[in-house]
Amino acid sequence: MDYITKNSDETRIIGKNLSTQLKGGDIVLLHGDLGAGKTTLTKGIVEGFGIDPNDVVSPTFTLMQEYQVDKSASEQVSKLVHIDTYRLEDEEQLREIGVEDYLGEKNTVCLIEWPEKIEGLLKDRKTINILIRHSENDKRKIKIKE
Ligand SMILES: Nc1ncnc2c1ncn2[C@@H]1O[C@H](COP(=O)(O)OP(=O)(O)O)[C@@H](O)[C@H]1O
Ligand SMILES: [Mg+2]
Repeated sequence: MDYITKNSDETRIIGKNLSTQLKGGDIVLLHGDLGAGKTTLTKGIVEGFGIDPNDVVSPTFTLMQEYQVDKSASEQVSKLVHIDTYRLEDEEQLREIGVEDYLGEKNTVCLIEWPEKIEGLLKDRKTINILIRHSENDKRKIKIKE
């Protein structure tokens, strides 16, 4: 699926709509340059699971943020894990904080910014890939590949 958005709200809404199609165990990889809109789209996904997007903090420094999903928002997904590897030195660092307990876990959806850095952790896992590219002005081209 291809989309073009004109502002961050439109990108957030794409994320929100996508959230309805996500299932526990899904691993969503967000590809794109700095400022492309990976965190913005993630906020939309998180919002779609009933969490206030203002509570979403970018895990640039913490590497990983967990959100509990209320039963009223989803029967099947109970946890969201947002990972940002931008400042990661090597993937061992993520292994140490227990990321493998979450990847592909049955009731957990993982959302990963800069997945290129952790190819070893992700290989042989089924992933959903989202590519975000800058276009003219504030436009972004968003491609979702299952
Ligand atoms: N169409 C758009 N989609 C997403 N973000 C946009 C768009 N137009 C402008 N922006 C701005 O670009 C920035 C995207 O930041 P962010 O989502 O943190 O990017 P990333 O996580 O990819 O580094 C925000 O400041 C946002 O307001
Ligand atoms: Mg980001």
